[in-house]
Amino acid sequence: MKTAKRPWFLAFTLLLSGAWSVSSGTSMAAEPKAAIAMPDKFSAEMAEKILKRGGNAVDAAVAAAFVLAVTYPEAGNLGGGGFMTIFATQKAMPGQMVAQVQQPYFLDYREKAPLAASRDMYLDGKKQPFPYRSLLGYQASGVPGTVAGLWAAHQKFGRLPWKDLLQPAIKLAKEGFIVPVKLQRVRNWYQKWIVKKAKQPLNFNAYFGHFKAGDRFKQPVLAETLSRISDHGRQEFYQGKTAKYLVEQMKAHGGLITQADLNAYQVKWRQPVVANWQGYQIISAPPPSSGGIAIIQLLKMKTLLDDDYALAKTKALKQGIDPQVVQAHFYAELSKRVYADRAQYLGDPDFMKVPVKTLISDAYLLKRTEGILWDDISETETIKPGKIESPETTHFSIVDFSGNAVSNTYTLNMPFGSGIVIEKAGFLMNNEMDDFSTKPGVANLFGMVGGQANAIAPEKRMLSSMSPTILLKNGHVDTVVGTPGGSSIITSVFQTIVNIKEEGMTAQQAVDATRIHHQLFPKDVIMYHPNLPDTVKEELEVMGYTLKQNNYLGDVQLITLKDGHWQAASDYRERGVSKVFGRRK
Ligand code: GLY
Repeated sequence: MKTAKRPWFLAFTLLLSGAWSVSSGTSMAAEPKAAIAMPDKFSAEMAEKILKRGGNAVDAAVAAAFVLAVTYPEAGNLGGGGFMTIFATQKAMPGQMVAQVQQPYFLDYREKAPLAASRDMYLDGKKQPFPYRSLLGYQASGVPGTVAGLWAAHQKFGRLPWKDLLQPAIKLAKEGFIVPVKLQRVRNWYQKWIVKKAKQPLNFNAYFGHFKAGDRFKQPVLAETLSRISDHGRQEFYQGKTAKYLVEQMKAHGGLITQADLNAYQVKWRQPVVANWQGYQIISAPPPSSGGIAIIQLLKMKTLLDDDYALAKTKALKQGIDPQVVQAHFYAELSKRVYADRAQYLGDPDFMKVPVKTLISDAYLLKRTEGILWDDISETETIKPGKIESPETTHFSIVDFSGNAVSNTYTLNMPFGSGIVIEKAGFLMNNEMDDFSTKPGVANLFGMVGGQANAIAPEKRMLSSMSPTILLKNGHVDTVVGTPGGSSIITSVFQTIVNIKEEGMTAQQAVDATRIHHQLFPKDVIMYHPNLPDTVKEELEVMGYTLKQNNYLGDVQLITLKDGHWQAASDYRERGVSKVFGRRK
């Protein structure tokens, strides 16, 4: 163990507080209000309209996801994939008995590796990674899952006709929308980035390279694709004209996705990961996401050390040190342990056994808190996975008038994905293959170092951090939350839950609060939102951390009950719109 660079307050023995207590209390909103927290104004307008027309949360989610595929092209998509956490009453199909009660569901519509993929496909003869091959160009894409996912959600829960839900997106693609400043900004960044990195020609600029903020941007080819999907449903994307265009273009340019891949693609209804914490039931994303497990690990370990944490903050204050220093160090220590487990144990559950129960069990997490000191950084090299016996994504949160909820995160991976547009269909392809561990020990786009559990294999799903989460209290929806941000999704959702449930913040304060992020590697690096005070940064540097400003640590979309009333909030740093409304207003 290293010695502290400076004894800025006394070290003390950890007093582990034992199991967390489950408190009671009611939190059900009695009034018929709905709430939305969406990543842009177009999806917000549509979600509100659909809910007011009598659609449920899933109808609003499907319509919004298609709208975002038009108005939020950096992450909204047809060519990507995602996860949807749902708390709702399932629709009765003819002749089918279904429980008429609201229940949690989890829909995995993550991309899959193509059949022709192989473990070392991104390594050269010397086993070194081909630069940027898993990020840009035709070989970077997994088999898309978005259309299959939205179709499956609608089949099980949708109340309004499928065709109606696509109309807003078709109209926006055909007639165009006014380009927001932030869309132009992220597009400009991507254009510069691909000039430096792309090793093969990309057709991105021909489609997205010319709009300016304030222009009306029309996408007639995408409008036709959406019309076909509206007419023929899922089948159009996987076996229809759209499939043909995708496969032809892949074949012509050395891409891997074939008609057999599209035929084989299936979504999965999985058991969400569930845990009790501080009187709430947390419903979140199971593998192939690491998100749900990681968030629960962070919350539970924090609770185990809460007494000591309070004491450490008091001691720091007495010594004139900002408690945010203690907070950032504490969260970094917890994150070190969580991201070590992530690298070791998490991958596609269809290919391996993921020890979910153990990883979120009280006994396991109690052991994981061992070795955390308040005045010293744990050596990165000593943080091994626990012993077990035996940028760009987008998120939205919706609660409808009946208390059904959808928490949906979907993505192309990077903003604008692989930079490849399917030309006759007008949509961008993902670069999700980079979320695999392309070479054990070599970091991906998010600096994540993976192991064998997340090695590439045909038809396997790549590990994700997307964490669409719902908190229940007394069997009713209390909170719906999620964010983009790659590996920082986990720490952003964790900090937002702590902000609302333990720090007493309003929804808006909770999403706007300064966040920090640490993920084991790079060693002892804490990323921070620009408004972290200089004094806090300096103290952390004295401790031995390297501080890195990151203007983009997520875009949290939060709905939560406060004193029996919904509050909805979108991160002020991005272009989200959130709203609570009644049926008429
Ligand atoms: N592509 C980012 C994630 O799935 O975590």
